[in-house]
Amino acid sequence: NRDDQIWQGWLTGGSSLLEEVNASVRFDHRLARQDIDGSIAHARMLARCEVVTETEAKEIVRGLELIREEIEAGDFVFDPALEDVHMNIEARLRELVGPVAGRLHTARSRNDQVAVDAKMWVRAAIDRLDALLAQVLEVIAERAEAHHADVMPGFTHLQCAQPVTIGHHLLAYGEMFLRDRDRLRSARRRLDESPLGAAALAGTGYPIDPHDTARQLGFGGVTRNSLDAVSDRDFILDFLSAGATLAVHISRLGEEMVIWSTPQFGFITLPEDLCAGSSIMPQKRNPDLPELMRAKSGRIFGDLMALLTVMKGLPLAYSRDMQEDKEALFDAADHLELGVRAAGAMLRGIDFRPEKTRHDAALGNTVATDLADWLVAERDVPFREAHSVVKGLVKWLAVQDRELKDADPAELAGFDDRFADLPAEVLTVEHAVARRNSPGGTAPALVREAAVELRRRNAAL
Ligand code: ARG
Repeated sequence: NRDDQIWQGWLTGGSSLLEEVNASVRFDHRLARQDIDGSIAHARMLARCEVVTETEAKEIVRGLELIREEIEAGDFVFDPALEDVHMNIEARLRELVGPVAGRLHTARSRNDQVAVDAKMWVRAAIDRLDALLAQVLEVIAERAEAHHADVMPGFTHLQCAQPVTIGHHLLAYGEMFLRDRDRLRSARRRLDESPLGAAALAGTGYPIDPHDTARQLGFGGVTRNSLDAVSDRDFILDFLSAGATLAVHISRLGEEMVIWSTPQFGFITLPEDLCAGSSIMPQKRNPDLPELMRAKSGRIFGDLMALLTVMKGLPLAYSRDMQEDKEALFDAADHLELGVRAAGAMLRGIDFRPEKTRHDAALGNTVATDLADWLVAERDVPFREAHSVVKGLVKWLAVQDRELKDADPAELAGFDDRFADLPAEVLTVEHAVARRNSPGGTAPALVREAAVELRRRNAAL
């Protein structure tokens, strides 16, 4: 078994330990497509610069395309003895086209090769995630518009604070996810320099044209310093840190869905097809998806921390340590994608219960601020004094086991005569949300506009 093999390799000092520790093909085979694209661009550039002949380049490209087909068909056998994806592909190229394969690696090192592959992989991962986030934002805009006037409790400290609208609450996530898109895109902009041509670390003496390969591979430019080009993993750290912030948002949304779906809150019903049951409790409908949305953040933070730790203190230029970037990258990309898809499915699938959220919005004296504001506006009371009057009123009611929602506006004058002629609507949650029309506020009219605006901003990115 595998454990015995490791043990024997150690005892005999044989090469299997080196292979176990060193070989990366088990995971970096995921760079195969990028590696082939990079190699084809490199071969074509070498021919244009007359470092290899046109015929040689054609043979190399033909072989690489065959390998691409083999990999896509699942027929390619990756061999750990050949270390990594780059050597596996090059070895197969030799089998397919013969000694001319040996010309591909002219003016190139695995160090600039792996850097360009990883950049292209991150770029594609960002594009996938960005497209998924755009869909999530579309769902948020749609649902926020539908619920622009439905009132729910707003919390601070998870204590009842002031009424807000469901649409407003959803749009808060819209802002977060829009910033996430922006962060991912800014990471993408920064990685837009091809490192090919840096070779091992110092550049190369061959008359190559790095702008040619950069153009072929869709990069806007070329790295300016060969040492940096092969020792830079900022682009992965940027992706992971943008991803970590995104994971925070997914996690907070997941947590709210977990809370909201309890009977105690009862703000939402979970979509049946996205709930899991219990093996013992027949009544259960568990929010497993939101829980995992919440939990995915753990491994994403771990991936970021792992790579930060690998990179810190590494001397220039390339060190083998940097090979440890990939599993963190792949893991984070995979689980961010899952998290965003889960968030989208949940946002689409949950049903809000506006009668329940409206009821709860009035719990906990949430219109107390509005009452104080009314004293300020209609009775010219300084806000600090109004605050203390209403605080006293709330306490007075609490002693009677009542809240503002239970009070008859007419009786409040008995507590303080400045409440005389208080309009009943001042104690309603609808009034509370409608009057909060400062920019970005929760007033339904603004929320409806903000939903439309979010859709526009999402499409304009
Ligand atoms: N598999 C390696 C990596 O992912 C390839 C890079 C170059 N290897 C080397 N010995 N210089 O980092």
